[in-house]
Amino acid sequence: MAGTSQTAHWSSRWTFIMAAVGSAVGLGNIWKFPYEAGQGGGGAFVLIYLFFVFVIGTPVLVAELSLGRRGQKSPIGSMAKIAKEEGRSPLWSLIGWSGVLGAVIVLSFYSVIGGWTLSYMFDAFAGTFSGMDAAAAGAHFGGLLTNEYAVIGWHAAFMGLTMFIVARGVEGGLEKAVTYLMPALFALLIGLAIYSSIAGDLAATVDFLFKPDFSKLTFDVMLQALGQSFFSLSLALGSIMTYGAYMTRDVNIGKSAVIIASADTGVAIMAGMMIFPIVFAYGLVPGQGPGLIFATLPIAFGQMSGGAFIGGAFFFLLVVAAITSSISLLEPSVSYITEKTGANRRKVALMIGGFIFTMGILSGLSQGDNPVADISIFGRSILDAKDFLTNNIMMPIGGMFSAIFVGWFVSRKNMMEELAMEDGTFRIWYFLVRFICPVAIGAVFVSIIYNTVTG
Ligand code: PHE
Repeated sequence: MAGTSQTAHWSSRWTFIMAAVGSAVGLGNIWKFPYEAGQGGGGAFVLIYLFFVFVIGTPVLVAELSLGRRGQKSPIGSMAKIAKEEGRSPLWSLIGWSGVLGAVIVLSFYSVIGGWTLSYMFDAFAGTFSGMDAAAAGAHFGGLLTNEYAVIGWHAAFMGLTMFIVARGVEGGLEKAVTYLMPALFALLIGLAIYSSIAGDLAATVDFLFKPDFSKLTFDVMLQALGQSFFSLSLALGSIMTYGAYMTRDVNIGKSAVIIASADTGVAIMAGMMIFPIVFAYGLVPGQGPGLIFATLPIAFGQMSGGAFIGGAFFFLLVVAAITSSISLLEPSVSYITEKTGANRRKVALMIGGFIFTMGILSGLSQGDNPVADISIFGRSILDAKDFLTNNIMMPIGGMFSAIFVGWFVSRKNMMEELAMEDGTFRIWYFLVRFICPVAIGAVFVSIIYNTVTG
């Protein structure tokens, strides 16, 4: 992609798919999905997650790609433009605003986790994990979190890389790198999942992930799964809309969306197959939360032969996967500000990146042992609160409104033209975005409110 102006486009269908898969596949799949599945009780979470990805998320993905491609601008600009063309209220641009702001909030903690990953990459290569047992792995992770300088330093490094790439425009290096590194990540994940299955407790994992226990399926778990399906597909944060704007007209949006969603889901399931056999073999707690992969993987890498290299390679690829996502989180605000002010892309990327880095310091500190870590927002740490606000509130609502917008406020004829789908496929998609997406998302919310009110 020639990334210097709004009219820049991906150099081919393949680079678009790789960039979009790069955005979708990230820490959300490998870090977040396993621990959320762990907290949500396993199988029931996985099942409802799959339902949300394919029945709600994928149609919304199609909607967002088409809005971006039609608008050819930043998410805010595209929404304003399309609303105007369709004779609708300018307030619809709020979808764009919520996305751009949401992406800023997400990046301010995503980058902290990206920093942890960077630090683990160096640890792995250095052989630090060699011979580690569960207690040592837990202590190692705790040691990182309570070392505030390290946490902020790694966060700075991760954010620096993200800013550097976005400042340069995404073309050349990154497009090419992604084309090789994403397949390498897939291959390594499959290899590690096989290793874990042999070395760890496969039977318990299969039971846990694929035998749904519906008594665990509370409304909160459903909302968490809904949010996670949007997070993992990069929806409702402007990223997909922005990438859609760089798409050429000959790319088939429906097919691309199915490829993106399938690759994304495959990686999440693989990550589960890699983590849980170790969790069960070592008697660790599946529901322990955000530290899950950091407390489990070192054990595996520490026990296997060649673990330093394999572990280092794994965290390297995870860093790459995280960066191909973080650039898509920085891109929406950068595209909006450059569009609005005409300012130089580099300057804008540095300024916004610097701002997000600063916001992120508190997220990083909130996991350690210091006064910031004692701050509690409705019982959540700063990092968790940002995650909750975006994952469970802004993303589902944003997604619901983009479905409502394309389903009810854009003319059917224009949608058909934009998507150029086969008739039958279009009808199914149209039915999903008009009825199923808004109703399903609305229902999850209403039940939560009802449950909260009635206690
Ligand atoms: N989908 C990315 C992941 O799973 C995160 C992300 C969310 C990126 C939203 C862009 C927009 O890691």
